[in-house]
Amino acid sequence: MSKYWSDVVHKLTPYMPGEQPKVDNLVKLNTNENPYGPSPNVIEVLKLEAAESLRLYPDPNSDALKAAIAEVHHLNSNQVFVGNGSDEVLAHVFHALLKHSRPLLFPDITYSFYPVYCGLYDIEYQTIPLAEDFTINVEDYDQPNGGIIFPNPNAPTGIALALDKIEKLLKANTQSVVVIDEAYVDFGTESAVGLINHYPNLLVTHTLSKARSLAGLRVGYALGSPDLIEALIRVKDSFNSYPIDRFASAGAIAAMQDVEYFNETRKKVIATRDLLTKLLRKLGFEVLPSGANFIFARQMSKGGAELTALLRQKNIIVRHFKVPARIEPYIRITIGTDEQSKILIDGLVEILK
Ligand SMILES: Cc1ncc(COP(=O)(O)O)c(C=O)c1O
Repeated sequence: MSKYWSDVVHKLTPYMPGEQPKVDNLVKLNTNENPYGPSPNVIEVLKLEAAESLRLYPDPNSDALKAAIAEVHHLNSNQVFVGNGSDEVLAHVFHALLKHSRPLLFPDITYSFYPVYCGLYDIEYQTIPLAEDFTINVEDYDQPNGGIIFPNPNAPTGIALALDKIEKLLKANTQSVVVIDEAYVDFGTESAVGLINHYPNLLVTHTLSKARSLAGLRVGYALGSPDLIEALIRVKDSFNSYPIDRFASAGAIAAMQDVEYFNETRKKVIATRDLLTKLLRKLGFEVLPSGANFIFARQMSKGGAELTALLRQKNIIVRHFKVPARIEPYIRITIGTDEQSKILIDGLVEILK
């Protein structure tokens, strides 16, 4: 608290990112990073970029990066918006497209940054409870709204929503923007990107932090009709002209273009996830079905906080959410390598002995 702060700052409840520990030798399964490095091509281009052009500002429009993203998704460049991580893209989305007189709708259990953006931009919102089995029921969103947003697959549950349900939502909400946050879509969930040319109110956000293993580079993007993209550009150009630096641009282009590496590594993550799910179930865990690079699971003999603390004593970090109460028993485990899964399982066997 300070007399120098604005009213807005007094009222903020900032987002709490997962721990980035300062010590080595931890099995770090808490922030949904990719256990495999980015494409080797990324490292090559970053070396060149360091040697060449840092004296100059980057392209404020990120045209080359937009073109690379558009090509992967079979869209035009004017249907692409890029930003400093999808968190920044989402911030602009909330500001530019989701602030209206009617409330924004999102699930009660979802990415916990959404209410934070609402606080920052003074956006009225209403949370819609997930069903008993943690799925999203699109009929529950059938009410006047200033926009709808949720991740698919949802976070932190990992549960995917089928594309026909998303299409139903788009048809029922032609007067507002429907944002599908596809941060984790590449781990086996069906993408809504193919619907963009049919629904001008659909915006899909992606990140290079997960399946392309570039959380440290900070690149994310939104895909949608040129009209929606223009709104985002207007906000971006009133905020920071150069959100994508020269490294981010060069590295992200190389990552988008190496489709083979992308497919190879995401398949490995999916295979590890499926194996880990089986092993956890054998240990008595209830594991929600996941279309993401993490799983959400509980073991009835221990609470979520207790299990997280016991794993931490064994140098294994997972993520735990205290609220809402319905998810307190669960822990969210990022999918690492098969070796990391083994360490996790061995640790759990000892804890549950
Ligand atoms: C659902 C969801 N959306 C968006 C993000 C933001 O990712 P980034 O800012 O790294 O692109 C995350 C990060 O964990 C996430 O879980």
